Amino acid sequence: MMLAEKYLTENLRKTLNGVQAECGFKLADVIRSGHENPDSNIGAYAGDADCYVKFSALFDPIIAEYHSFPSDSEHRGDIQPLDSLTIPNLDPDNAQILSTRIRVARNIEGVDFPPAITANARLELERRILRVLNNLKGEFAGSYHSLANMTEETQKQLTQSHFLFKKGDRFLDSAGVNRDWPNGRGIFYTSDKTFLVWVNEEDHLRIISMQQGGGLANVYERLRQGLEKINEQVPFARSHRLGYLSSCPTNLGTAMRASVHIKLPRLGQRRDFGKLCNQLQLSVRGIHGEHSKSENGIWDISNKQRLGITEVECIEILYSGLEKLIRLEENG
Ligand code: ADP
Ligand code: ARG
Repeated sequence: MMLAEKYLTENLRKTLNGVQAECGFKLADVIRSGHENPDSNIGAYAGDADCYVKFSALFDPIIAEYHSFPSDSEHRGDIQPLDSLTIPNLDPDNAQILSTRIRVARNIEGVDFPPAITANARLELERRILRVLNNLKGEFAGSYHSLANMTEETQKQLTQSHFLFKKGDRFLDSAGVNRDWPNGRGIFYTSDKTFLVWVNEEDHLRIISMQQGGGLANVYERLRQGLEKINEQVPFARSHRLGYLSSCPTNLGTAMRASVHIKLPRLGQRRDFGKLCNQLQLSVRGIHGEHSKSENGIWDISNKQRLGITEVECIEILYSGLEKLIRLEENG
């Protein structure tokens, strides 16, 4: 059952009626995506940091259930270096893991999140971010490509190669994230496309590190350093209790999704494959991202929980889950 529906009792609806967050979001705005898409799993989005305060009576139980994070707990963790000895390459021969990607979602402190931001504020934010990104040096130096100036062909090619986002789906459309598309959106990347930043998609920033093969520790370390360079120049929206704040409550805390594209031709056919991954605290997606299908036995496997655990723990959960999946694939 959709979590927004499950926890929005008649009494709570009455309590929250008339409540308004600083961005102007009322209850109807917070739950619009779930209301218009009854097959949502969560069904609620925040228009700014204040939504998590004003509508906490709804968000807290949703967050508690999704992240196994009791409402009286506090997020812990900040992106610490990883001991690469504990996370060796799981697939040094590149037999099963095609590629590894870690992204974090970030929003800029004091600016409305994509579900609520105005067209002008979005453009202004894009200019601000661009100044930050253009300041990156060395291995993080790269170039920005605005969606508004991009040919359809380039857009298609970058999306097919897993670098660029698609236009938001119906869930994001209802949440208000697709307004004024494509203005104010774009992608920054280094020449080898191992460090990328999405601007003004579901969150102000999605900061991404990726490469071919299974080098999880390398990908993590690049992300950690690049993220630090960006955060030196711009403050991220964050709360003591919920960690980094995102438009969707599934991305709170570390806001980190670490994933691999992995070949699991046998295991992926098992009827209990989804359940098995869930037990290992892993999420399963197809190879073109969320709500896409698997192709040729290749799956996108990532950590499910992002809040209440550290970034290093996100990686450790993915690592040990993958170890088990690889063993099961080999031994049945
Ligand atoms: P997000 O990861 O930001 O939540 P998606 O699930 O839509 O969003 O994925 C965004 C893009 O990243 C998609 O094109 C997806 O195929 C690609 N991607 C995700 N994980 C990997 C990976 N391990 N290797 C290569 N591409 C990946
Ligand atoms: N709103 C959708 C739902 O509730 C997606 C939630 C998670 N995905 C995301 N991109 N935020 O099912």
